[in-house]
Amino acid sequence: MAHFSANVHEDIKKVLITEEQIRKRVEELGAQISEDYAGKELVVIFVLKGASIFFADLIRSIVVPIRIDSIAAASYGNTTKSSGTVRIEKDIETPIEGKHVLLVEDIIDTGLTLSYLKAYFERQKPASLRVITLLDKPVARKVQLVPDYNGFTVGNEFVVGYGLDYAQRFRNLPYIAIPKDYVWNDEEKE
Ligand code: IMP
Repeated sequence: MAHFSANVHEDIKKVLITEEQIRKRVEELGAQISEDYAGKELVVIFVLKGASIFFADLIRSIVVPIRIDSIAAASYGNTTKSSGTVRIEKDIETPIEGKHVLLVEDIIDTGLTLSYLKAYFERQKPASLRVITLLDKPVARKVQLVPDYNGFTVGNEFVVGYGLDYAQRFRNLPYIAIPKDYVWNDEEKE
């Protein structure tokens, strides 16, 4: 049996980015995107599941017309280490040829997932393709990749909340945080 508290907030050691900080930054990013794509239509594609909460907040700060879609790509199991392999588990339904595309990611770690997805979308010949990430972990990068828009830069530690999980947990936290130490051992206890 995994150890977890009845209240998910009790399993948190430290809050790194507060709800208020996220809200402000998401509004800034939405305003910037609205300015950059003024007069254009945008296809906003988010990467399941981690980017879902960021995406939901972000699009409500964008004022240019958009269409939405999602893609699911797996490169991680229930661990904190990248497996290095990327697999598309759910594809987009929108034809993106000739469209302006914005890809929404939760966090760029090694960069392997996103560089794979970027190449995958480039082959479909969009008019433009940009990447936005809520969090960037540049020190963990294995391939060169710089996001076009970045919410916050974090260090080389595993973070959860606001859509990001550890072993599928903690996505419902409204802030970005580090769990208590016993959480990392849960897999072994299960
Ligand atoms: P990358 O391919 O190594 O860049 O990994 C990207 C994916 O790994 C992200 O979309 C997340 O799902 C997951 N990931 C990487 N670092 C973290 C983290 O600190 N917390 C939660 N998920 C993470």
